[in-house]
Amino acid sequence: MGKEKFIIAIDGHSSCGKSTVAKDLAKALSIAYVDTGAMYRSVTLYALRNNLIINGKVDEEKLIAALGNINVTFAFNASEKRNETFMNGESIEKEIRNMEVSSHVSLVSAIGAVRKQLVEWQRQMGKDTSLVMDGRDIGTVVFPNADLKIFMTASDEVRAQRRFDELTAKGEKVSMDEILNNVRERDRIDSTRAESPLRKADDALLLDNSNMTMGEQFEWIMERLRERNLI
Ligand code: DC
Repeated sequence: MGKEKFIIAIDGHSSCGKSTVAKDLAKALSIAYVDTGAMYRSVTLYALRNNLIINGKVDEEKLIAALGNINVTFAFNASEKRNETFMNGESIEKEIRNMEVSSHVSLVSAIGAVRKQLVEWQRQMGKDTSLVMDGRDIGTVVFPNADLKIFMTASDEVRAQRRFDELTAKGEKVSMDEILNNVRERDRIDSTRAESPLRKADDALLLDNSNMTMGEQFEWIMERLRERNLI
């Protein structure tokens, strides 16, 4: 049994573990994983590097004109055992996760023309292959007919703590307050923006993982896939 080609859409708040579970699913099911947040982060990095964001304002016209110069790809780094994001062939995985990019990405992802282009690239990726894609608008905009839609969340404090642990483990000097504010600010901007705001699709299943382990959450999703005869 199982479906030959299927799409799993995972949306939800920032830092609630979407990408971790999405990667685990992709590995277990031997399907592709697309981190759409990394795509918005890459465009943000491009804008920062090219001085297209000055004093918190994006030069939209120049950025939109430059989108054709940005090619974001993903590859599995076997020696480091993790997915890696590339922009025009350069590994930018580490840079797109820093605070500089994190605090500007909501500005860039609120631009309609940027979203339009990225959504098109994302649909293209799922045209012929099964995949699990995570983001904010996958179940609502990118793949409204996805075979399984999950809307993930966890409390602000739990999410900030996870982000804090992740960044300090990488050696970044950050404060808990700064992280909590960034998490809340991104939620606010993501949910209130005019273009494709973050919201649960009517047919998405709600998954609050504040009190769940990674293993429990993974099993929960696997069970939903089995119920639907997708695997
Ligand atoms: O998932 P993440 O934290 O890496 O995402 C970074 C930002 O990109 C987040 O603040 C919202 C935005 N984003 C979006 O608007 N739409 C998506 N599909 C994915 C991310």
